[in-house]
Amino acid sequence: MRALIAGNWKMHGLLADVATLAAPLREPAESLACDLLVCPPATLIAAVAAALAGSKVAVGAQDCHAKHTGPHTGEVSAAMLKDAGAAWVILGHSERRADYAESDAIVRDKAEAAIACGLTPIVCVGETGTQKAAGRAEEVVGGQLLGSLPDDFAGIVAYEPIWAIGTGHIPTEADVIAMHAFIRAELVRRFGLAGHGFRILYGGSVKPANAAALLNLPEVGGALVGGASLKPEDFLAVARAVAG
Ligand code: 13P
Repeated sequence: MRALIAGNWKMHGLLADVATLAAPLREPAESLACDLLVCPPATLIAAVAAALAGSKVAVGAQDCHAKHTGPHTGEVSAAMLKDAGAAWVILGHSERRADYAESDAIVRDKAEAAIACGLTPIVCVGETGTQKAAGRAEEVVGGQLLGSLPDDFAGIVAYEPIWAIGTGHIPTEADVIAMHAFIRAELVRRFGLAGHGFRILYGGSVKPANAAALLNLPEVGGALVGGASLKPEDFLAVARAVAG
């Protein structure tokens, strides 16, 4: 399966930035050994989808509501994101789990809504630095997988150790290998053969300088990239680090 390099723009970008952040990905994406995805803020999905129409770069969102429509002021449903041009959606990012107290159950409901609409969910899991120091990383991630993935899951898992996000710190190669092997084993235990088919992304301070080392480890099916996705040349350098 081809690796996926996904960019999470977080709360960055105005309409005027689409030409510099998204459009430069069109041409280079033609010759990459991996799939490319950008997840701009909801306000830019339609514009980014238009800028990338007919290219190999996919477009996703950063969150969705669990309901399709209804009295939920300020919310955006999976159906609306799809209508705007998204095919993917990041769910349960640690920033949302922390900022909005998103529980595993909420993330699971959102994943169900996304799948029902035909969006591919990227469900994020990951431990805090304190949990890691206490030797609880697998217990925490195992619990998040169990609670956040619906029984009909069809999508991607992104392992993002919270202490590695935006800090420049990354886990050791041995830690990445061990956690990705653990996640794979949990997926196979729960979903059987299908569990072998879900890509597992690594996220947290992925940059051009560390991408080759991280991306070519066993069971690392790509990366979820924050800061470096806001510089197309860096984002593409990460993508080019995927062995063909
Ligand atoms: P950084 O790549 O900026 O550490 O962000 C990672 C992340 O949170 C992607 O979802």
